[in-house]
Amino acid sequence: MNIIKLHAIDSTNSFLKELARKEPLPDFTVVTTQNQTAGRGQRGNGWYSTAEGSLIFSVYKIFDHLPVIQHFKISMMVSLALIEAFQLFDIPEIKVKWPNDIMAGNKKIVGILVENNLMGEFITSSVIGIGINVSVKSFPDLPQAGSLSFSSDSVINKEELFQSILKSLGTHLANLRNVRFEELKTLYEAHLFRKNVISVFEDPLSGKRFNAVIKGISSQGELVIETEEGLMSQVGVKELRLLF
Ligand code: BTN
Repeated sequence: MNIIKLHAIDSTNSFLKELARKEPLPDFTVVTTQNQTAGRGQRGNGWYSTAEGSLIFSVYKIFDHLPVIQHFKISMMVSLALIEAFQLFDIPEIKVKWPNDIMAGNKKIVGILVENNLMGEFITSSVIGIGINVSVKSFPDLPQAGSLSFSSDSVINKEELFQSILKSLGTHLANLRNVRFEELKTLYEAHLFRKNVISVFEDPLSGKRFNAVIKGISSQGELVIETEEGLMSQVGVKELRLLF
């Protein structure tokens, strides 16, 4: 495995994307840093981390013949790989909050940012950025954030966790082509946060709040919800926010 360890960088995703633009990179090149100074999150948000408490890394993955319409396979595989690794460390109540936040109980402990490189109808490669709150003690203005250490009595060795996650990610991603979308969807849905219970959602445009039940995901990776009126709808990431 090609692993690049940096003392400090603005964003491991940005670094890896730039590197891949400049030179051909081996599949599964990994970049990690102690200090990420301008971590990037979903929807243009930032990502908070500390040198001691966080595990920050990005993986460059090459894909062979992965249609863009199946892009959600990547999120599902990465989520399942992380869940499997956390199970080895006996972290309880691990779930995936659609599309790809990993939760321990009601706290978000992992953020994932997948940035794809496209050629026509296909994803040729992705930079998969992962930020894990291992033992960050407090989060400024982030009431829903938590750390693995909040849920575990034993001290988690960051390097052991990192190696375990890389192993799990390597095997899962290498298998991506052989697993059908429907098969992955079933596995992913088995770990879906707040599935089949009433949750509060917010329409980010109107600010309107409503109750609905998460039923699963669609064949495009959208969230399938059932409203109080019994209506089923499929929603994209920008169309609603789960407040739970
Ligand atoms: C989210 O908003 O939930 C996604 C956060 C992703 C953060 C990780 S940390 C490593 C990589 N580098 C970045 O700048 N972002 C991702």
